Amino acid sequence: MIPGDNLPRSPGLRLLVRPTLPIGLVLMNAPPPLPSIALPSRHLLGIDGMSATEIVGLLDLAEEAVAVSRQIEKKKAVLRGRTQINLFFEASTRTQSSFELAGKRLGADVMNMAVGNSAVKKGETVIDTAMTLNAMRPDILVVRHYAAGAVELLAQKVSCSVINAGDGVHEHPTQALLDALTIRRHKGTISGLTVAICGDIAHSRVARSNILLLNTLGARVRVVGPSTLLPTGIERLGVEVFTDMRSGLADVDIIMMLRLQRERMEGSFVPSVREYFHFFGLDERKLAYAKPDALVMHPGPMNRGVEIDSAVADGKRSLIGEQVEMGVAVRMAVLEALAAHLPNN
Ligand code: CP
Repeated sequence: MIPGDNLPRSPGLRLLVRPTLPIGLVLMNAPPPLPSIALPSRHLLGIDGMSATEIVGLLDLAEEAVAVSRQIEKKKAVLRGRTQINLFFEASTRTQSSFELAGKRLGADVMNMAVGNSAVKKGETVIDTAMTLNAMRPDILVVRHYAAGAVELLAQKVSCSVINAGDGVHEHPTQALLDALTIRRHKGTISGLTVAICGDIAHSRVARSNILLLNTLGARVRVVGPSTLLPTGIERLGVEVFTDMRSGLADVDIIMMLRLQRERMEGSFVPSVREYFHFFGLDERKLAYAKPDALVMHPGPMNRGVEIDSAVADGKRSLIGEQVEMGVAVRMAVLEALAAHLPNN
């Protein structure tokens, strides 16, 4: 465990206690232990509304999952006999594959629903698709959708647990959690750090979830980008707004770069990619504005030469590879925490 976080680890979280079994049964046939934390809902739809205690509890659980993934600790098959369906209406490499690995590492039967080959192509609505899958009695649906709010709507219609794997420009809660875990492993704490989130803030669910989480854990958050990519009123989320990299990166501890999300843009927001890189792309020259020990993050997928230079993306201060590893651990933690809500637990 990394020392130094000024928040206590998992304080006050509900401890779940199984009824006592005869000792022989415990030894012969012990069910996998329940997680020591429980989320208040059977769904994870966003960072919005989560307390610092719940977030820190998940990060602590994810630390244990890192040890499982690195084969330092034994697997916890808390999802043995459970079915997890990954339902992705939008492209994904990292999130979908890490949810699949996470589910399998916890013993679940995992099915990836290929939406491209599904009845969605024949005009079926997202709700009808979800209801159809729900009728097959899965335990967990992991859903990504291109429309903000679609995952929450779907969660109201099904009887299983739902995890938001990214909904339009709204939220990407597991990305923010894995980013926080990565930062905490390097800096020991989130509280008191200054984090600059740079680039296409307007179209980014990653930015929104990170702003909510980092503020909840006591970081100072800045957003940096051209005014065309900064939503009006963003400061109401508790961020400082900068439109140039020199002042925006001055003395920051963490730089999070974001991709230009052209698939969500209607119209032109930057004059040219070349000009965008000149003013807002992170290269060694702009990195020097930050603290000497500042670290660089990117949720992926990256566009090299657009928002980030390869020398920085692949350099010593980049945490981008580690973010991917922490993605599996955080998704294991979320699945494990939600397991407490599954019937018969
Ligand atoms: N960061 C992220 O959500 O990546 P994918 O789109 O590959 O899942």
